[in-house]
Amino acid sequence: MKVLVTGGLGFIGSHTVVELQNEGFEVVIIDNLSNSSEDVLKGITTITGKTPLFEKLDLREKASVQDFFKKHNDVAGVIHFAASKAVGESVEQPLLYYENNISSLIYLLQELQQKPEASFIFSSSCTVYGQAEKMPITEDAPVQVAMSPYGNTKQIGEEIITDTAKVTNINAILLRYFNPVGAHKSVEIGELPLGVPQNLVPFITQTGVGLRQELSVFGDDYPTPDGTAVRDYIHVVDLAKAHVIALQRLLSKKNLSKVETFNLGTGKGSSVLEVIHSFEKVSDKKLPYKMMPRREGDITEAYANTDKANNILGWKAELSLDEAMASAWKWEQKVRSK
Ligand code: WQD
Repeated sequence: MKVLVTGGLGFIGSHTVVELQNEGFEVVIIDNLSNSSEDVLKGITTITGKTPLFEKLDLREKASVQDFFKKHNDVAGVIHFAASKAVGESVEQPLLYYENNISSLIYLLQELQQKPEASFIFSSSCTVYGQAEKMPITEDAPVQVAMSPYGNTKQIGEEIITDTAKVTNINAILLRYFNPVGAHKSVEIGELPLGVPQNLVPFITQTGVGLRQELSVFGDDYPTPDGTAVRDYIHVVDLAKAHVIALQRLLSKKNLSKVETFNLGTGKGSSVLEVIHSFEKVSDKKLPYKMMPRREGDITEAYANTDKANNILGWKAELSLDEAMASAWKWEQKVRSK
């Protein structure tokens, strides 16, 4: 069974390709290498012994997308990761985000709707909830006005897929990730942020290897137990496995409706300070950090109610925050030793 993974050389995409290959799927990757490199293909091959097909292609080019589906007309399912994902950058360059994240999705769906049937897994985000009223967050928590164009592209993407699935043979699952962290235990693939990391964990590990002087903790005056913001940090391998299970659900027609939505998190909230302490424990290093004002647009807390994913999708996160931090640290040390 051939599966297309767009953005398959990215952080979550590459880990998902490994798990798809472990389950016996033939994988073809589309990636424009704007935020990844072909070296990732080697990492995947080292882990699984199988090199996925790879097409360097920009999904904003409609003709290229059409040509791809003519060539690979046996694609049974698509897992769509390819998108720009930096919250701050999206505020600075909204049109880049709307063009990239929305038109790519439209061109993909236009090809899939011509097939007798198609299974579509969409990479969404807990960011659609904004600051949810109630913790832990369930899938029926209201989608709030997006805090950034990036978040808005996820909300719009979900709506486009929902409207399209209603009137075509496309069946879809929307996966709302919480905070993906960590790296594959083989240390062959992991997160490769370009430039100064926006996200907490890569900034911590880069500080640990001395690439950054110290971590700025954005806010210690939140209404949380230790004053720092709380998130649900989910190991990227657990996240990757959920994508394979979701795809298999659609391919085996177990879905209960044309579009299903699942939160993917651990169900546990961790504060910034708890993440720092986890890093210090697994690395046996003291992390230099300083308290700074809150970051514009940040919410106080978000962690998932995982009942639906556990009981309906049949998936549960298994790896702990310490395991995620240990794998992220090992990966950072390897990348910096090159
Ligand atoms: C986590 C916490 C920061 C950096 C975003 C997107 C989400 C997904 C993941 C793409 C916050 C604090 C961070 C630092 C800090 N993105 N922090 N110092 O903002 O929860 O989620 O990234 O898929 O959609 O919204 O993740 O890692 O940026 O921040 O104190 O140097 O760490 O303030 O409280 P976030 P994050």
